[in-house]
Amino acid sequence: MSYYVRLMRQEDVAQVTEIDREAFSTQWPPPNYQRELRNRLTHYIVVYDKEKTIDTPEVKASSEKNLTGLVARLRRLFSRNRFFSNELPPPSRHCIIGFAGLWVMADEAHITSIAVREAYRRQGIGELLLISLISLATEQKTRIVTLEVRVSNATAQTLYSKYNFTQVSVRRGYYVDNREDAILMSTENITSAPFQAHLQQLKQAHFRKWGIALSKITR
Ligand SMILES: CC(C)(COP(=O)(O)OP(=O)(O)OC[C@H]1O[C@@H](n2cnc3c(N)ncnc32)[C@H](O)[C@@H]1OP(=O)(O)O)[C@@H](O)C(=O)NCCC(=O)NCCS
Repeated sequence: MSYYVRLMRQEDVAQVTEIDREAFSTQWPPPNYQRELRNRLTHYIVVYDKEKTIDTPEVKASSEKNLTGLVARLRRLFSRNRFFSNELPPPSRHCIIGFAGLWVMADEAHITSIAVREAYRRQGIGELLLISLISLATEQKTRIVTLEVRVSNATAQTLYSKYNFTQVSVRRGYYVDNREDAILMSTENITSAPFQAHLQQLKQAHFRKWGIALSKITR
């Protein structure tokens, strides 16, 4: 497989917004990823399929198509609002299949999002993103990685538990769409020997199973 991880760029925003809408449809509107990219505390990564390039006009057409109806009307209505900027940057030619974000505060790295296109799920991409975020958190000299996950999201919880995230507390009514509780999960010290040993085992198993090369995250 030819999947690679790199930092998110402005030109990825249209595809990332598409994936966000597919994965978190109830949490409308999506974050303004263009603005997120300018935030020095957040770090976004994408996974792309090197064998697939996107025909630029098609991406443009599909992102414009997704902006018809209610979104387009609201965009026109709030042309200077905080969610949308007026111009999307030219779309990326890479086919983006997943993305994830990390918010770094002192010695804590908080996972803001992680999502894989539906058509690419259960192929090790979510795991690739999580491994990359942990590596980014280590580079940023943080000590722990935390996140919130819906009580009903058993799939994501299974992924995080595999990487030794454990439940720390419950945030009652955290999600505004349906007032669902969030489970706050955290790692132990990511630089500790037991955490690193477990991580190495998982990385090797991931490589054996999926053959995805875990190279350095490029720009
Ligand atoms: C959660 C998500 C990112 C996982 O991505 P993915 O690429 O399908 O995951 P992977 O193929 O890398 O699977 C890794 C591990 O996750 C867990 N997992 C993934 N899909 C699962 C499923 N349907 N049921 C149970 N466990 C699952 C397993 O532990 C799996 O390891 P295994 O292969 O050894 O069983 C993906 O389902 C997604 O985008 N969901 C919507 C967005 C979301 O809920 N994000 C999390 C917000 S907190």
